[in-house]
Amino acid sequence: MSTPRKHPQSPSELEFQERDRFDMVYGTNTTTPLAKTGFHDIPNLAHGKAYMASWTSEIEKSFSLIHGILGKAFPLYSFIDIGCGKGKVPIVWRLECQRLGLKQRIIGIDYYPPFIELAQNNHHKVFGTPGEFICADAESINYGSLGSALITYLYNPFDDQIMNAALKALRRLPCIVIYNIPTHTDLLGQHGFELIHARSGKNQNQTTHIYANHPHRG
Ligand SMILES: C[S@@+](CC[C@H](N)C(=O)[O-])C[C@H]1O[C@@H](n2cnc3c(N)ncnc32)[C@H](O)[C@@H]1O
Repeated sequence: MSTPRKHPQSPSELEFQERDRFDMVYGTNTTTPLAKTGFHDIPNLAHGKAYMASWTSEIEKSFSLIHGILGKAFPLYSFIDIGCGKGKVPIVWRLECQRLGLKQRIIGIDYYPPFIELAQNNHHKVFGTPGEFICADAESINYGSLGSALITYLYNPFDDQIMNAALKALRRLPCIVIYNIPTHTDLLGQHGFELIHARSGKNQNQTTHIYANHPHRG
């Protein structure tokens, strides 16, 4: 979905442009935030953040940058949204792949089962298939079973304890990390990831760091 630019935009115009508009265009249900109150108890709930959807243009910008960096190697990577919630990021990523005629394995994982069903329904609305959404905890999933090289997407999903455990597993694979609202940036360096891109804007949703742990230029 292309994102028309109009300046200056008020916070509510931006919110509409970056969240509500996506659901209006595709008939999905991704915009409404969901607090953790009322969630049934699952391990690590205390370490996770509430659900909010990423901004559409932020996902598109990261896609374009990483496709540019990886070039022909792009399809060799699996894309994983770690803490996918209602599935907007894998859907936008697939739309971008489709626009450029690219094939890639695209996965969303979340530890809260109702999100997986919502994400599958949303994916079905856009593509007519449930997509690949897995109910799993970021701390314990076998990332190596998802691909031999990974592009991971994190929209501030959890605290430093889970982030540390996830990075400990991810560092064993060639991995690119897209970190939107980067909160525990010190851990990336500790696990051998190098910052390859940083951008920010007036809103915290416009702050994204991208890291890699291997030579990555295509
Ligand atoms: C801020 S939302 C991001 C949603 C989505 N990635 C996006 O950008 O639109 C964070 C998500 O991380 C999930 N989450 C938190 N802790 C998790 C864990 N340990 N394992 C898997 N998912 C987790 C939450 O259920 C929530 O859906």
